[in-house]
Amino acid sequence: MYVCLCKGVTDKAIKQKVAEGVCTMRELKLCLGVGSQCGKCTCQASQILHNELVAE
Ligand code: FES
Repeated sequence: MYVCLCKGVTDKAIKQKVAEGVCTMRELKLCLGVGSQCGKCTCQASQILHNELVAE
């Protein structure tokens, strides 16, 4: 499922990054570009990020 349409970032891509050690939205934005354009995806992206961090 696409989370960020502007940058074509999927939830899978976010989960993959968390598995690689990303643990903040700032890092996620730097490596995937998520939330760097319209910003609409920021809320959902951070939710996925936090869910993954809790699950780890
Ligand atoms: Fe992610 Fe626009 S949908 S920045």
